[in-house]
Amino acid sequence: MYRTHTNGALNQNNIGESVTLVGWVQTIRDKGFVMWIDLRDRYGITQLVLDEERTSKEIFETARKLGREFVIQAKGTVLERESKNNKIPTGAIEVLIDSLEVLNDSKLPPFTIENDTDGGEELRMQFRYLDIRRNPVKNKLIFRHQVAQKVRNFLSDEGFIEIETPVLIKSTPEGARDFLVPSRMNPGQFYALPQSPQTFKQLLMVGGMDKYFQIVKCFRDEDLRADRQPEFTQIDCEMAFVEQEDVLNVFENLTKSLLKEIKGFEIEEFPRITYTEAMRRFGNDKPDIRFGMEFAELNVEAQGKGFKVFDSQELVVGIAAPGCASYTRKEIDKLIDWVKRPQIGANGLVWVKYNEDGTLKSSVDKFYSSGDLQAWADKMDAKPGDLLLVMAGDKNVTRKQLSELRMEMAKRLDLRNPEEFAPLWVVDFPLLEWDDETNRYHAMHHPFTSPKPEDLDKLETAPGEVRANAYDLVLNGNEIGGGSIRIFNRALQSRMFDLLGFTKEEAQAQFGFLMNAFEYGAPPHGGIAFGFDRLVSILDGSETIRDYIAFPKNNAGRDVMINTPSSLSQDQLEELHLKVDLNDKNEED
Ligand code: AMO
Repeated sequence: MYRTHTNGALNQNNIGESVTLVGWVQTIRDKGFVMWIDLRDRYGITQLVLDEERTSKEIFETARKLGREFVIQAKGTVLERESKNNKIPTGAIEVLIDSLEVLNDSKLPPFTIENDTDGGEELRMQFRYLDIRRNPVKNKLIFRHQVAQKVRNFLSDEGFIEIETPVLIKSTPEGARDFLVPSRMNPGQFYALPQSPQTFKQLLMVGGMDKYFQIVKCFRDEDLRADRQPEFTQIDCEMAFVEQEDVLNVFENLTKSLLKEIKGFEIEEFPRITYTEAMRRFGNDKPDIRFGMEFAELNVEAQGKGFKVFDSQELVVGIAAPGCASYTRKEIDKLIDWVKRPQIGANGLVWVKYNEDGTLKSSVDKFYSSGDLQAWADKMDAKPGDLLLVMAGDKNVTRKQLSELRMEMAKRLDLRNPEEFAPLWVVDFPLLEWDDETNRYHAMHHPFTSPKPEDLDKLETAPGEVRANAYDLVLNGNEIGGGSIRIFNRALQSRMFDLLGFTKEEAQAQFGFLMNAFEYGAPPHGGIAFGFDRLVSILDGSETIRDYIAFPKNNAGRDVMINTPSSLSQDQLEELHLKVDLNDKNEED
Protein backbone atom coordinates (compact mmCIF):
# COMPACT_ATOMS: atom_id res chain seq x y z
CA MET A 1 0.00 0.00 0.00
CA TYR A 2 1.52 3.30 -1.06
CA ARG A 3 -0.32 5.45 1.50
CA THR A 4 -2.60 5.33 4.50
CA HIS A 5 -3.86 8.89 4.07
CA THR A 6 -3.79 11.68 1.50
CA ASN A 7 -2.06 14.97 2.23
CA GLY A 8 -5.34 16.72 2.92
CA ALA A 9 -6.67 14.21 5.44
CA LEU A 10 -4.76 14.46 8.71
CA ASN A 11 -5.80 16.70 11.58
CA GLN A 12 -5.75 16.80 15.39
CA ASN A 13 -7.92 13.66 15.56
CA ASN A 14 -5.01 11.68 14.10
CA ILE A 15 -2.39 12.73 16.66
CA GLY A 16 -0.30 9.75 17.71
CA GLU A 17 -1.18 7.64 14.67
CA SER A 18 1.42 6.00 12.44
CA VAL A 19 0.86 7.03 8.86
CA THR A 20 2.33 6.59 5.40
CA LEU A 21 2.12 9.48 2.95
CA VAL A 22 3.13 9.99 -0.68
CA GLY A 23 3.33 13.07 -2.84
CA TRP A 24 5.47 15.78 -4.38
CA VAL A 25 7.99 17.88 -2.50
CA GLN A 26 6.70 21.43 -2.59
CA THR A 27 9.18 23.18 -0.31
CA ILE A 28 12.08 22.21 1.92
CA ARG A 29 13.18 24.33 4.88
CA ASP A 30 16.46 23.20 6.38
CA LYS A 31 17.50 24.76 9.72
CA GLY A 32 20.33 22.27 10.22
CA PHE A 33 19.09 20.49 13.33
CA VAL A 34 15.53 20.47 12.11
CA MET A 35 14.03 20.20 8.64
CA TRP A 36 10.52 20.63 7.30
CA ILE A 37 9.18 19.32 4.00
CA ASP A 38 5.83 20.34 2.57
CA LEU A 39 4.39 17.31 0.83
CA ARG A 40 1.71 17.98 -1.77
CA ASP A 41 -0.87 15.92 -3.61
CA ARG A 42 -4.26 16.67 -5.14
CA TYR A 43 -5.87 16.77 -1.71
CA GLY A 44 -3.61 19.21 0.08
CA ILE A 45 -0.30 19.71 1.83
CA THR A 46 1.05 17.96 4.89
CA GLN A 47 4.13 19.16 6.73
CA LEU A 48 6.77 16.52 7.37
CA VAL A 49 9.36 17.16 10.05
CA LEU A 50 12.79 15.69 10.74
CA ASP A 51 14.77 16.62 13.84
CA GLU A 52 18.21 15.67 14.99
CA GLU A 53 17.09 14.15 18.25
CA ARG A 54 14.45 11.86 16.87
CA THR A 55 15.30 11.27 13.21
CA SER A 56 18.13 9.05 12.01
CA LYS A 57 21.18 10.46 10.20
CA GLU A 58 20.39 8.29 7.22
CA ILE A 59 16.96 9.86 6.74
CA PHE A 60 18.46 13.34 7.10
CA GLU A 61 20.94 12.47 4.38
CA THR A 62 18.20 11.28 2.02
CA ALA A 63 16.15 14.40 2.82
CA ARG A 64 19.06 16.70 2.00
CA LYS A 65 19.23 15.21 -1.48
CA LEU A 66 15.59 15.99 -2.21
CA GLY A 67 14.62 18.69 -4.65
CA ARG A 68 11.41 20.39 -5.60
CA GLU A 69 8.84 18.05 -7.20
CA PHE A 70 10.62 14.83 -6.17
CA VAL A 71 8.06 12.09 -5.56
CA ILE A 72 8.52 10.56 -2.11
CA GLN A 73 7.00 8.17 0.34
CA ALA A 74 7.31 9.03 4.02
CA LYS A 75 6.27 7.08 7.09
CA GLY A 76 5.97 8.56 10.55
CA THR A 77 3.87 9.67 13.49
CA VAL A 78 1.32 12.47 13.58
CA LEU A 79 2.25 15.18 16.11
CA GLU A 80 0.62 18.39 17.18
CA ARG A 81 2.38 21.41 15.66
CA GLU A 82 3.82 24.04 17.89
CA SER A 83 3.02 26.95 15.57
CA LYS A 84 -0.23 26.14 13.81
CA ASN A 85 -1.28 27.28 10.34
CA ASN A 86 -5.02 27.74 10.40
CA LYS A 87 -5.15 28.52 6.68
CA ILE A 88 -4.96 24.84 5.71
CA PRO A 89 -6.96 21.87 7.07
CA THR A 90 -3.79 19.99 8.03
CA GLY A 91 -2.22 23.05 9.67
CA ALA A 92 -2.54 21.82 13.24
CA ILE A 93 -0.37 18.75 12.77
CA GLU A 94 2.92 17.60 11.30
CA VAL A 95 4.35 14.16 10.66
CA LEU A 96 7.65 13.26 12.34
CA ILE A 97 9.12 10.86 9.85
CA ASP A 98 10.99 7.63 10.52
CA SER A 99 11.24 6.41 6.93
CA LEU A 100 11.79 8.25 3.67
CA GLU A 101 11.92 6.78 0.21
CA VAL A 102 12.42 8.59 -3.08
CA LEU A 103 9.95 7.10 -5.58
CA ASN A 104 11.13 9.33 -8.39
CA ASP A 105 13.33 12.36 -8.73
CA SER A 106 12.49 15.45 -10.73
CA LYS A 107 14.27 18.00 -12.82
CA LEU A 108 13.93 21.53 -11.55
CA PRO A 109 10.49 22.63 -12.83
CA PRO A 110 10.57 25.53 -15.32
CA PHE A 111 8.24 27.60 -13.14
CA THR A 112 7.18 27.59 -9.51
CA ILE A 113 4.32 25.26 -8.74
CA GLU A 114 2.43 27.41 -6.32
CA ASN A 115 -0.78 29.43 -6.41
CA ASP A 116 1.09 32.39 -7.84
CA THR A 117 3.61 31.31 -10.40
CA ASP A 118 6.39 32.99 -12.30
CA GLY A 119 5.60 30.93 -15.42
CA GLY A 120 4.19 32.71 -18.49
CA GLU A 121 1.18 31.34 -20.38
CA GLU A 122 3.19 29.71 -23.18
CA LEU A 123 5.57 27.98 -20.79
CA ARG A 124 2.76 26.74 -18.57
CA MET A 125 0.92 25.36 -21.61
CA GLN A 126 4.07 23.61 -22.76
CA PHE A 127 4.35 21.96 -19.34
CA ARG A 128 0.62 21.76 -18.74
CA TYR A 129 1.06 18.63 -16.57
CA LEU A 130 3.06 20.75 -14.13
CA ASP A 131 0.58 23.60 -14.33
CA ILE A 132 -2.18 21.14 -13.38
CA ARG A 133 -0.36 20.48 -10.09
CA ARG A 134 -1.09 24.10 -9.13
CA ASN A 135 -4.22 24.74 -7.07
CA PRO A 136 -5.85 27.34 -9.35
CA VAL A 137 -5.69 25.00 -12.34
CA LYS A 138 -6.47 21.80 -10.44
CA ASN A 139 -9.44 23.37 -8.68
CA LYS A 140 -10.96 24.47 -11.98
CA LEU A 141 -10.79 20.91 -13.30
CA ILE A 142 -12.37 19.59 -10.12
CA PHE A 143 -15.06 22.27 -10.40
CA ARG A 144 -15.75 21.19 -13.97
CA HIS A 145 -16.18 17.61 -12.82
CA GLN A 146 -18.62 18.66 -10.11
CA VAL A 147 -20.76 20.60 -12.58
CA ALA A 148 -20.74 17.64 -14.99
CA GLN A 149 -21.88 15.31 -12.20
CA LYS A 150 -24.74 17.60 -11.27
CA VAL A 151 -25.81 17.93 -14.88
CA ARG A 152 -25.76 14.14 -15.33
CA ASN A 153 -27.75 13.57 -12.16
CA PHE A 154 -30.30 16.24 -12.98
CA LEU A 155 -30.92 15.03 -16.51
CA SER A 156 -30.97 11.34 -15.50
CA ASP A 157 -33.53 12.17 -12.80
CA GLU A 158 -35.61 13.90 -15.46
CA GLY A 159 -35.62 10.68 -17.50
CA PHE A 160 -32.93 11.58 -20.05
CA ILE A 161 -30.74 8.75 -21.33
CA GLU A 162 -27.07 9.41 -22.14
CA ILE A 163 -26.27 7.96 -25.55
CA GLU A 164 -23.00 8.25 -27.44
CA THR A 165 -23.09 9.29 -31.08
CA PRO A 166 -20.27 8.74 -33.58
CA VAL A 167 -17.30 11.03 -34.01
CA LEU A 168 -16.43 10.00 -37.53
CA ILE A 169 -19.39 11.38 -39.42
CA LYS A 170 -20.41 13.42 -42.40
CA SER A 171 -20.40 17.18 -42.40
CA THR A 172 -23.10 18.86 -40.22
CA PRO A 173 -23.76 22.47 -41.09
CA GLU A 174 -23.52 24.42 -37.82
CA GLY A 175 -21.95 27.42 -39.44
CA ALA A 176 -18.25 26.68 -38.98
CA ARG A 177 -15.78 24.70 -41.05
CA ASP A 178 -15.39 20.98 -40.46
CA PHE A 179 -12.28 19.18 -39.33
CA LEU A 180 -11.79 16.37 -41.82
CA VAL A 181 -10.32 12.90 -41.48
CA PRO A 182 -9.12 11.06 -44.57
CA SER A 183 -10.27 7.48 -44.96
CA ARG A 184 -7.51 4.96 -45.69
CA MET A 185 -9.97 2.31 -46.75
CA ASN A 186 -11.96 4.60 -49.02
CA PRO A 187 -9.49 6.45 -51.21
CA GLY A 188 -10.29 10.12 -51.76
CA GLN A 189 -13.06 10.10 -49.18
CA PHE A 190 -13.23 11.83 -45.83
CA TYR A 191 -15.06 11.72 -42.55
CA ALA A 192 -15.93 14.97 -40.84
CA LEU A 193 -15.70 15.42 -37.09
CA PRO A 194 -19.07 16.53 -35.69
CA GLN A 195 -19.65 20.24 -35.13
CA SER A 196 -22.42 18.87 -32.94
CA PRO A 197 -24.40 15.61 -32.79
CA GLN A 198 -27.39 17.46 -34.29
CA THR A 199 -28.55 15.01 -36.94
CA PHE A 200 -27.86 11.96 -34.77
CA LYS A 201 -29.88 13.26 -31.87
CA GLN A 202 -32.76 13.88 -34.23
CA LEU A 203 -32.43 10.32 -35.52
CA LEU A 204 -32.53 9.09 -31.90
CA MET A 205 -35.90 10.80 -31.61
CA VAL A 206 -37.07 9.01 -34.75
CA GLY A 207 -35.70 5.90 -33.00
CA GLY A 208 -38.12 6.53 -30.14
CA MET A 209 -35.53 7.32 -27.40
CA ASP A 210 -37.75 10.23 -26.34
CA LYS A 211 -35.24 12.05 -24.11
CA TYR A 212 -31.54 11.99 -24.97
CA PHE A 213 -28.53 13.78 -23.59
CA GLN A 214 -24.79 13.55 -24.00
CA ILE A 215 -21.87 15.46 -22.57
CA VAL A 216 -19.99 15.41 -25.81
CA LYS A 217 -16.97 16.77 -27.65
CA CYS A 218 -17.71 18.93 -30.70
CA PHE A 219 -15.22 20.17 -33.27
CA ARG A 220 -15.33 23.44 -35.18
CA ASP A 221 -12.62 24.91 -37.35
CA GLU A 222 -13.25 28.58 -36.63
CA ASP A 223 -11.29 31.59 -35.41
CA LEU A 224 -10.53 31.29 -31.72
CA ARG A 225 -11.40 33.64 -28.89
CA ALA A 226 -11.51 33.49 -25.11
CA ASP A 227 -14.87 31.71 -25.28
CA ARG A 228 -14.10 29.46 -28.25
CA GLN A 229 -11.96 26.37 -28.66
CA PRO A 230 -11.67 24.18 -31.77
CA GLU A 231 -12.74 21.21 -29.68
CA PHE A 232 -15.18 21.97 -26.93
CA THR A 233 -17.87 20.18 -24.97
CA GLN A 234 -21.63 20.44 -25.20
CA ILE A 235 -24.38 19.27 -22.94
CA ASP A 236 -26.44 18.12 -25.89
CA CYS A 237 -30.12 17.27 -25.47
CA GLU A 238 -33.14 16.34 -27.52
CA MET A 239 -36.74 15.58 -26.57
CA ALA A 240 -39.65 14.15 -28.53
CA PHE A 241 -43.27 15.33 -28.36
CA VAL A 242 -42.33 18.73 -27.02
CA GLU A 243 -43.00 22.36 -27.76
CA GLN A 244 -40.62 25.22 -27.09
CA GLU A 245 -42.14 25.76 -23.65
CA ASP A 246 -41.30 22.20 -22.56
CA VAL A 247 -37.65 22.52 -23.58
CA LEU A 248 -37.24 25.93 -21.94
CA ASN A 249 -38.78 24.61 -18.73
CA VAL A 250 -36.42 21.66 -18.35
CA PHE A 251 -33.30 23.69 -19.12
CA GLU A 252 -34.33 26.66 -17.05
CA ASN A 253 -34.76 24.26 -14.15
CA LEU A 254 -31.36 22.68 -14.85
CA THR A 255 -29.70 26.11 -14.87
CA LYS A 256 -31.56 27.18 -11.73
CA SER A 257 -30.51 24.05 -9.88
CA LEU A 258 -26.86 24.57 -10.89
CA LEU A 259 -26.96 28.22 -9.79
CA LYS A 260 -28.53 27.24 -6.51
CA GLU A 261 -26.43 24.20 -5.66
CA ILE A 262 -23.12 25.57 -6.86
CA LYS A 263 -23.42 29.29 -6.23
CA GLY A 264 -26.23 29.47 -3.66
CA PHE A 265 -27.87 31.86 -6.11
CA GLU A 266 -31.65 31.74 -6.39
CA ILE A 267 -33.69 33.27 -9.13
CA GLU A 268 -37.45 33.02 -9.73
CA GLU A 269 -38.10 32.99 -13.44
CA PHE A 270 -35.70 33.78 -16.26
CA PRO A 271 -36.74 36.84 -18.26
CA ARG A 272 -37.55 36.20 -21.91
CA ILE A 273 -37.09 38.69 -24.69
CA THR A 274 -37.43 38.38 -28.41
CA TYR A 275 -34.45 38.69 -30.71
CA THR A 276 -35.91 41.92 -32.11
CA GLU A 277 -36.25 43.39 -28.64
CA ALA A 278 -32.73 42.31 -27.66
CA MET A 279 -31.33 44.06 -30.71
CA ARG A 280 -33.38 47.21 -30.09
CA ARG A 281 -32.63 47.47 -26.36
CA PHE A 282 -29.05 46.20 -26.27
CA GLY A 283 -27.83 46.00 -29.87
CA ASN A 284 -26.90 42.42 -29.13
CA ASP A 285 -28.56 39.00 -29.17
CA LYS A 286 -26.71 38.01 -25.99
CA PRO A 287 -27.22 41.00 -23.75
CA ASP A 288 -25.58 41.30 -20.38
CA ILE A 289 -28.47 42.45 -18.19
CA ARG A 290 -26.54 42.64 -14.94
CA PHE A 291 -26.49 46.38 -15.57
CA GLY A 292 -28.67 48.95 -17.37
CA MET A 293 -27.41 51.41 -19.99
CA GLU A 294 -30.22 50.33 -22.29
CA PHE A 295 -30.38 51.86 -25.73
CA ALA A 296 -32.61 54.87 -26.36
CA GLU A 297 -33.49 55.58 -29.99
CA LEU A 298 -33.37 59.31 -30.65
CA ASN A 299 -34.38 59.73 -34.30
CA VAL A 300 -37.43 61.80 -33.37
CA GLU A 301 -35.58 63.94 -30.83
CA ALA A 302 -32.29 64.39 -32.70
CA GLN A 303 -33.12 64.64 -36.38
CA GLY A 304 -34.28 67.74 -38.28
CA LYS A 305 -32.41 70.20 -36.08
CA GLY A 306 -29.72 71.06 -38.58
CA PHE A 307 -27.09 68.58 -37.42
CA LYS A 308 -26.35 66.91 -40.76
CA VAL A 309 -24.33 64.05 -39.26
CA PHE A 310 -27.53 62.75 -37.66
CA ASP A 311 -30.15 63.86 -40.13
CA SER A 312 -29.56 61.41 -42.95
CA GLN A 313 -28.92 58.37 -40.77
CA GLU A 314 -31.14 55.35 -40.39
CA LEU A 315 -30.70 55.29 -36.62
CA VAL A 316 -29.63 57.72 -33.90
CA VAL A 317 -29.18 55.86 -30.64
CA GLY A 318 -27.57 56.45 -27.28
CA ILE A 319 -26.82 55.21 -23.79
CA ALA A 320 -26.34 56.99 -20.48
CA ALA A 321 -23.12 55.99 -18.74
CA PRO A 322 -23.84 56.34 -15.02
CA GLY A 323 -21.73 58.86 -13.12
CA CYS A 324 -19.48 59.67 -16.08
CA ALA A 325 -20.41 63.35 -16.52
CA SER A 326 -17.23 64.08 -14.61
CA TYR A 327 -15.11 62.70 -17.47
CA THR A 328 -12.48 65.21 -18.57
CA ARG A 329 -12.18 66.30 -22.15
CA LYS A 330 -9.15 64.08 -22.43
CA GLU A 331 -11.02 61.03 -21.15
CA ILE A 332 -13.85 61.67 -23.60
CA ASP A 333 -11.38 62.06 -26.46
CA LYS A 334 -9.91 58.70 -25.52
CA LEU A 335 -13.37 57.17 -25.64
CA ILE A 336 -13.92 58.68 -29.08
CA ASP A 337 -10.61 57.18 -30.23
CA TRP A 338 -11.73 53.85 -28.78
CA VAL A 339 -14.92 53.72 -30.86
CA LYS A 340 -13.00 54.80 -33.96
CA ARG A 341 -10.58 51.87 -33.68
CA PRO A 342 -10.95 49.53 -36.66
CA GLN A 343 -12.28 46.78 -34.35
CA ILE A 344 -15.30 48.99 -33.58
CA GLY A 345 -15.24 51.14 -36.69
CA ALA A 346 -17.53 54.02 -35.63
CA ASN A 347 -17.23 57.39 -37.37
CA GLY A 348 -17.56 59.27 -34.14
CA LEU A 349 -19.38 59.77 -30.91
CA VAL A 350 -21.57 62.63 -29.72
CA TRP A 351 -21.49 63.25 -25.99
CA VAL A 352 -23.69 65.14 -23.56
CA LYS A 353 -22.66 65.78 -19.98
CA TYR A 354 -25.72 65.78 -17.76
CA ASN A 355 -24.07 67.65 -14.90
CA GLU A 356 -24.88 67.10 -11.24
CA ASP A 357 -26.46 70.58 -11.13
CA GLY A 358 -28.87 69.58 -13.91
CA THR A 359 -27.18 71.65 -16.66
CA LEU A 360 -26.33 70.01 -19.95
CA LYS A 361 -23.13 70.47 -21.94
CA SER A 362 -22.52 68.67 -25.21
CA SER A 363 -20.29 68.37 -28.24
CA VAL A 364 -23.25 69.51 -30.36
CA ASP A 365 -24.41 72.60 -28.41
CA LYS A 366 -24.43 74.52 -31.69
CA PHE A 367 -27.35 72.46 -32.95
CA TYR A 368 -29.34 71.54 -29.88
CA SER A 369 -30.92 73.62 -27.11
CA SER A 370 -30.86 72.51 -23.47
CA GLY A 371 -34.48 71.50 -23.93
CA ASP A 372 -33.50 69.22 -26.84
CA LEU A 373 -30.71 67.63 -24.85
CA GLN A 374 -32.98 67.25 -21.83
CA ALA A 375 -35.38 65.28 -24.07
CA TRP A 376 -32.49 62.92 -24.96
CA ALA A 377 -31.62 62.51 -21.30
CA ASP A 378 -35.24 61.78 -20.42
CA LYS A 379 -35.53 59.18 -23.16
CA MET A 380 -32.41 57.48 -21.78
CA ASP A 381 -33.67 57.60 -18.20
CA ALA A 382 -30.46 59.46 -17.42
CA LYS A 383 -29.74 61.00 -14.04
CA PRO A 384 -27.71 64.12 -13.23
CA GLY A 385 -24.08 63.01 -13.21
CA ASP A 386 -24.47 60.73 -16.25
CA LEU A 387 -22.66 61.02 -19.56
CA LEU A 388 -24.83 60.47 -22.63
CA LEU A 389 -23.08 58.79 -25.54
CA VAL A 390 -24.80 58.91 -28.91
CA MET A 391 -24.04 57.29 -32.26
CA ALA A 392 -25.72 57.36 -35.64
CA GLY A 393 -25.60 55.36 -38.84
CA ASP A 394 -26.90 52.21 -40.48
CA LYS A 395 -29.20 50.50 -37.96
CA ASN A 396 -27.47 47.15 -37.65
CA VAL A 397 -23.95 48.50 -37.75
CA THR A 398 -24.62 51.28 -35.24
CA ARG A 399 -26.36 48.96 -32.81
CA LYS A 400 -23.38 46.65 -32.89
CA GLN A 401 -20.94 49.51 -32.30
CA LEU A 402 -22.96 50.97 -29.44
CA SER A 403 -23.25 47.52 -27.91
CA GLU A 404 -19.45 47.28 -27.87
CA LEU A 405 -19.29 50.68 -26.21
CA ARG A 406 -21.93 49.65 -23.67
CA MET A 407 -19.85 46.59 -22.72
CA GLU A 408 -16.67 48.67 -22.58
CA MET A 409 -18.29 51.24 -20.27
CA ALA A 410 -19.61 48.41 -18.07
CA LYS A 411 -16.07 47.06 -17.84
CA ARG A 412 -14.62 50.48 -16.98
CA LEU A 413 -17.35 51.04 -14.40
CA ASP A 414 -16.89 47.57 -12.92
CA LEU A 415 -20.52 46.66 -13.54
CA ARG A 416 -19.81 43.11 -14.70
CA ASN A 417 -19.80 41.48 -11.27
CA PRO A 418 -18.79 37.81 -11.72
CA GLU A 419 -20.57 36.83 -8.52
CA GLU A 420 -23.90 38.02 -9.86
CA PHE A 421 -25.90 35.93 -12.34
CA ALA A 422 -28.37 37.32 -14.83
CA PRO A 423 -29.74 34.60 -17.11
CA LEU A 424 -32.33 35.24 -19.81
CA TRP A 425 -33.91 33.53 -22.78
CA VAL A 426 -33.74 35.16 -26.17
CA VAL A 427 -36.55 33.77 -28.34
CA ASP A 428 -38.08 34.20 -31.80
CA PHE A 429 -34.83 34.40 -33.73
CA PRO A 430 -35.11 35.05 -37.45
CA LEU A 431 -35.02 31.76 -39.36
CA LEU A 432 -32.64 33.08 -41.99
CA GLU A 433 -29.85 35.57 -42.25
CA TRP A 434 -28.86 37.30 -45.49
CA ASP A 435 -25.22 36.97 -46.38
CA ASP A 436 -23.88 39.70 -48.67
CA GLU A 437 -20.77 37.74 -49.54
CA THR A 438 -22.47 34.63 -50.90
CA ASN A 439 -25.56 36.59 -51.89
CA ARG A 440 -27.99 34.21 -50.32
CA TYR A 441 -29.75 33.25 -47.13
CA HIS A 442 -28.10 31.18 -44.43
CA ALA A 443 -29.85 29.39 -41.61
CA MET A 444 -29.35 31.56 -38.54
CA HIS A 445 -29.35 28.54 -36.22
CA HIS A 446 -29.13 25.50 -38.50
CA PRO A 447 -31.21 24.15 -41.38
CA PHE A 448 -33.19 21.75 -39.17
CA THR A 449 -34.84 24.52 -37.18
CA SER A 450 -38.57 24.82 -37.67
CA PRO A 451 -40.12 28.09 -38.84
CA LYS A 452 -42.90 29.43 -36.65
CA PRO A 453 -46.10 27.91 -38.12
CA GLU A 454 -47.74 31.34 -38.31
CA ASP A 455 -44.88 32.61 -40.52
CA LEU A 456 -44.83 29.61 -42.87
CA ASP A 457 -46.69 31.40 -45.66
CA LYS A 458 -43.84 33.95 -45.91
CA LEU A 459 -41.19 31.29 -46.42
CA GLU A 460 -40.85 31.89 -50.17
CA THR A 461 -42.28 35.43 -50.43
CA ALA A 462 -40.50 37.20 -47.52
CA PRO A 463 -37.95 34.73 -46.17
CA GLY A 464 -36.11 37.40 -44.19
CA GLU A 465 -39.20 38.01 -42.05
CA VAL A 466 -39.82 34.42 -41.06
CA ARG A 467 -39.20 33.77 -37.39
CA ALA A 468 -37.87 30.47 -36.09
CA ASN A 469 -38.87 28.34 -33.17
CA ALA A 470 -35.35 28.93 -31.87
CA TYR A 471 -34.04 30.10 -28.53
CA ASP A 472 -30.78 30.92 -26.79
CA LEU A 473 -29.94 30.89 -23.11
CA VAL A 474 -27.79 33.89 -22.24
CA LEU A 475 -25.91 34.23 -18.97
CA ASN A 476 -24.02 37.41 -18.09
CA GLY A 477 -23.65 38.44 -21.72
CA ASN A 478 -22.52 35.01 -22.92
CA GLU A 479 -24.41 32.61 -25.15
CA ILE A 480 -24.53 29.54 -22.96
CA GLY A 481 -26.88 27.49 -25.06
CA GLY A 482 -28.97 27.41 -28.17
CA GLY A 483 -31.65 25.17 -29.54
CA SER A 484 -34.86 24.92 -31.47
CA ILE A 485 -37.97 22.97 -32.30
CA ARG A 486 -37.12 20.96 -35.40
CA ILE A 487 -38.64 20.33 -38.74
CA PHE A 488 -39.92 16.70 -38.74
CA ASN A 489 -41.52 16.56 -42.12
CA ARG A 490 -39.71 15.74 -45.32
CA ALA A 491 -41.52 18.26 -47.51
CA LEU A 492 -40.81 21.19 -45.21
CA GLN A 493 -37.19 20.13 -44.70
CA SER A 494 -36.80 19.99 -48.44
CA ARG A 495 -38.33 23.50 -48.82
CA MET A 496 -35.76 24.70 -46.29
CA PHE A 497 -32.87 23.27 -48.32
CA ASP A 498 -34.29 24.92 -51.46
CA LEU A 499 -34.33 28.27 -49.66
CA LEU A 500 -30.74 27.80 -48.54
CA GLY A 501 -29.70 27.30 -52.15
CA PHE A 502 -29.16 23.53 -52.14
CA THR A 503 -30.12 21.71 -55.32
CA LYS A 504 -32.38 18.69 -54.77
CA GLU A 505 -29.41 16.43 -55.56
CA GLU A 506 -27.11 18.21 -53.08
CA ALA A 507 -29.74 18.09 -50.35
CA GLN A 508 -30.34 14.40 -51.00
CA ALA A 509 -26.63 13.58 -51.07
CA GLN A 510 -25.86 15.44 -47.85
CA PHE A 511 -29.02 14.99 -45.81
CA GLY A 512 -30.97 12.25 -47.56
CA PHE A 513 -30.49 10.02 -44.51
CA LEU A 514 -32.36 12.49 -42.31
CA MET A 515 -35.10 13.29 -44.79
CA ASN A 516 -35.62 9.57 -45.42
CA ALA A 517 -35.94 9.00 -41.68
CA PHE A 518 -38.63 11.69 -41.54
CA GLU A 519 -40.72 9.42 -43.78
CA TYR A 520 -40.85 6.67 -41.17
CA GLY A 521 -42.95 8.27 -38.47
CA ALA A 522 -40.68 11.00 -37.11
CA PRO A 523 -42.19 12.46 -33.93
CA PRO A 524 -42.35 16.22 -33.32
CA HIS A 525 -39.14 17.03 -31.48
CA GLY A 526 -36.81 19.75 -30.28
CA GLY A 527 -33.81 20.31 -28.10
CA ILE A 528 -30.94 22.44 -27.04
CA ALA A 529 -27.19 22.31 -26.46
CA PHE A 530 -25.32 24.15 -23.74
CA GLY A 531 -21.69 25.08 -24.22
CA PHE A 532 -20.36 23.15 -21.22
CA ASP A 533 -16.97 24.89 -21.07
CA ARG A 534 -18.67 28.27 -21.13
CA LEU A 535 -21.22 27.28 -18.52
CA VAL A 536 -18.51 26.03 -16.17
CA SER A 537 -16.29 29.08 -16.57
CA ILE A 538 -19.11 31.57 -16.06
CA LEU A 539 -20.39 29.71 -13.00
CA ASP A 540 -16.86 30.06 -11.66
CA GLY A 541 -16.77 33.79 -12.41
CA SER A 542 -14.52 33.65 -15.47
CA GLU A 543 -14.98 34.04 -19.21
CA THR A 544 -11.86 32.19 -20.31
CA ILE A 545 -12.86 28.64 -21.15
CA ARG A 546 -9.27 27.55 -21.79
CA ASP A 547 -8.64 27.54 -18.03
CA TYR A 548 -11.36 24.91 -17.55
CA ILE A 549 -10.00 22.52 -20.17
CA ALA A 550 -7.25 20.14 -19.08
CA PHE A 551 -5.29 20.33 -22.32
CA PRO A 552 -6.52 23.31 -24.35
CA LYS A 553 -5.34 24.71 -27.67
CA ASN A 554 -3.76 28.14 -27.93
CA ASN A 555 -5.13 30.99 -30.05
CA ALA A 556 -3.45 29.60 -33.13
CA GLY A 557 -5.26 26.28 -32.57
CA ARG A 558 -2.04 24.58 -31.47
CA ASP A 559 -1.33 22.28 -28.58
CA VAL A 560 2.16 23.48 -27.71
CA MET A 561 2.74 20.60 -25.30
CA ILE A 562 2.41 17.79 -27.82
CA ASN A 563 3.25 20.17 -30.67
CA THR A 564 0.32 19.59 -32.93
CA PRO A 565 -0.93 20.04 -35.64
CA SER A 566 2.16 18.49 -37.16
CA SER A 567 3.31 17.14 -40.49
CA LEU A 568 2.91 13.54 -41.60
CA SER A 569 5.48 11.38 -43.24
CA GLN A 570 5.28 10.84 -46.99
CA ASP A 571 4.36 7.19 -46.24
CA GLN A 572 1.44 8.13 -44.08
CA LEU A 573 0.21 10.60 -46.67
CA GLU A 574 0.40 8.01 -49.38
CA GLU A 575 -1.43 5.45 -47.30
CA LEU A 576 -4.21 7.99 -46.86
CA HIS A 577 -4.20 8.70 -50.59
CA LEU A 578 -3.28 12.32 -49.94
CA LYS A 579 -0.98 14.03 -52.37
CA VAL A 580 0.77 16.83 -50.52
CA ASP A 581 3.89 18.26 -52.05
CA LEU A 582 5.92 18.97 -48.94
CA ASN A 583 8.34 21.15 -50.91
CA ASP A 584 5.50 23.40 -51.97
CA LYS A 585 4.33 23.68 -48.39
CA ASN A 586 7.77 24.61 -47.16
CA GLU A 587 8.02 27.36 -49.72
CA GLU A 588 4.73 28.79 -48.50
CA ASP A 589 5.92 28.70 -44.89
P1 AMO B 1 -24.84 26.00 -31.18
O1 AMO B 1 -24.05 26.05 -32.44
O2 AMO B 1 -25.57 27.23 -30.75
O3 AMO B 1 -25.98 24.91 -31.29
O4 AMO B 1 -23.91 25.49 -30.02
C1 AMO B 1 -24.41 25.32 -28.70
C2 AMO B 1 -23.51 26.00 -27.69
O5 AMO B 1 -22.18 25.51 -27.77
C3 AMO B 1 -21.27 26.52 -27.37
N1 AMO B 1 -20.22 26.68 -28.40
C4 AMO B 1 -18.90 26.72 -28.16
N2 AMO B 1 -18.20 26.67 -27.01
C5 AMO B 1 -16.86 26.72 -27.08
N3 AMO B 1 -16.16 26.80 -28.22
C6 AMO B 1 -16.81 26.86 -29.42
N4 AMO B 1 -16.10 26.92 -30.55
C7 AMO B 1 -18.24 26.83 -29.41
N5 AMO B 1 -19.19 26.86 -30.37
C8 AMO B 1 -20.38 26.76 -29.74
C9 AMO B 1 -22.07 27.79 -27.18
C10 AMO B 1 -23.35 27.49 -27.92
O6 AMO B 1 -24.44 28.20 -27.38
N6 AMO B 1 -26.77 21.57 -32.50
C11 AMO B 1 -27.10 22.89 -31.98
C12 AMO B 1 -27.91 22.82 -30.72
C13 AMO B 1 -29.36 22.48 -30.94
O7 AMO B 1 -29.97 23.00 -31.87
O8 AMO B 1 -29.88 21.68 -30.14
C14 AMO B 1 -25.79 23.61 -31.70
O9 AMO B 1 -24.71 23.08 -31.73
O10 AMO B 1 -22.31 27.98 -25.80
